Amino acid sequence: MAEVRNKYVVKKNHIDGVPNESDFSICEELLSLKLHSHVSNNVVIVKNLYVSIDPYQINRMKPHSSSHIIASTASVVLPGQAIEAGGVGRVVESWHPDFKTGDFVSGLLHWGEYSVVEGGQQLQKLDTTVAIWLLQEANICKAKVFEAVVAFTHLQKFFASHKLLKQVGSSGITAYGGFFQVCKPKKGEKVFVSAASGSVGILVGQYAKLSGCYVVGCAGTKEKVDLLKEKLGFDDAFNYKEEPNLNLALQRYFPEGIDIYFDNVGGEMLEAAVENLKSFGRIAICGVISEYTGTQKRAKLDMVGVIYKRIRIEGFLCVDFVDIYPEFISTTMQHLQTGKLKAIEDISYGVENIPTAFIDLFHGNNIGKKVVKIAQE
Ligand SMILES: NC(=O)c1ccc[n+]([C@@H]2O[C@H](COP(=O)([O-])OP(=O)(O)OC[C@H]3O[C@@H](n4cnc5c(N)ncnc54)[C@H](OP(=O)(O)O)[C@@H]3O)[C@@H](O)[C@H]2O)c1
Repeated sequence: MAEVRNKYVVKKNHIDGVPNESDFSICEELLSLKLHSHVSNNVVIVKNLYVSIDPYQINRMKPHSSSHIIASTASVVLPGQAIEAGGVGRVVESWHPDFKTGDFVSGLLHWGEYSVVEGGQQLQKLDTTVAIWLLQEANICKAKVFEAVVAFTHLQKFFASHKLLKQVGSSGITAYGGFFQVCKPKKGEKVFVSAASGSVGILVGQYAKLSGCYVVGCAGTKEKVDLLKEKLGFDDAFNYKEEPNLNLALQRYFPEGIDIYFDNVGGEMLEAAVENLKSFGRIAICGVISEYTGTQKRAKLDMVGVIYKRIRIEGFLCVDFVDIYPEFISTTMQHLQTGKLKAIEDISYGVENIPTAFIDLFHGNNIGKKVVKIAQE
């Protein structure tokens, strides 16, 4: 096989609002597997099996964002350029000494059928034997091992060096590190989580319950609210889209105030949370998805309230939590094995559906970790 046909997603133009189907196109190329430059550049060619779909990518698609200069994985994506994303795949050709044809790998791949990874950078071999054993232990169907690999970041233990935390299914360590390291919960504290049915929020709420906290989540549909309350153990949940006044809504759910707000959305929800936070309350700024597309107003916080209530507001990135990775793995595995923690995935199929899967995140059309399955193993 000297060449393969590769379909991949590109953005057609810079995106500065809510993404639309017309912002993307599917390119097709004949990908040579035998170029001389592949030898000298230690290239690894990967057939993609699963790719991760994450809200942060929208900031990479804008012409300007403060995130572009902070982290290389958040750098700007140019029109026509293949779009890097976390994923799992199988090596079809390798000129890198650490990888051979047939290896399962995870790391920074592309939104496409194949990924050409120079220098094998950001790529890690996946130990499928251990992964499958672990998934069986966790009572997860063996056939779904690769969905789970992307969705359940605890498996990174077996294929991750710390650099990979930046790219592959980072929801688990984001939730764990953000909640325990930034929020520093105490038993009995009152916790509020926004975008609570998203990949991070689902886990934060469950970690909070496991820590003996009282937890309320918000989400954008009745189905999600029911899931949080009935299947995931949240003490309460509400549909923020049905609340004309978020400040009053939070007063209703937290009559004595909030100790911890885990923020995934920013904007008016963050403003309302600050209003309802107790003295010495903590706010972990994980994401501000309502502000990414520029359609909703940016949070304007009552800073006098922040001072007088001695509120601590802290942003963070999942890569900040490398040091607690082993602790995260062992605790999370234990909870999965005993059924105390549930992880939820939301799968679409085929390269053609990547743009829709991505756009859907900004319309609340996902529940749990969004991945796109590109090919069978
Ligand atoms: N700091 C880090 O290292 C890090 C790592 C991973 C993710 N994040 C951030 O954490 C947040 C959650 O990520 P995720 O992966 O859990 O998300 P996700 O699974 O992709 O879910 C996104 C959810 O956000 C909600 N949403 C979309 N637009 C919204 C809006 N305008 N207002 C309120 N809610 C809206 C939707 O649910 P409903 O509207 O139905 O609630 C949607 O389903 C994002 O902001 C993401 O960028 C940060």
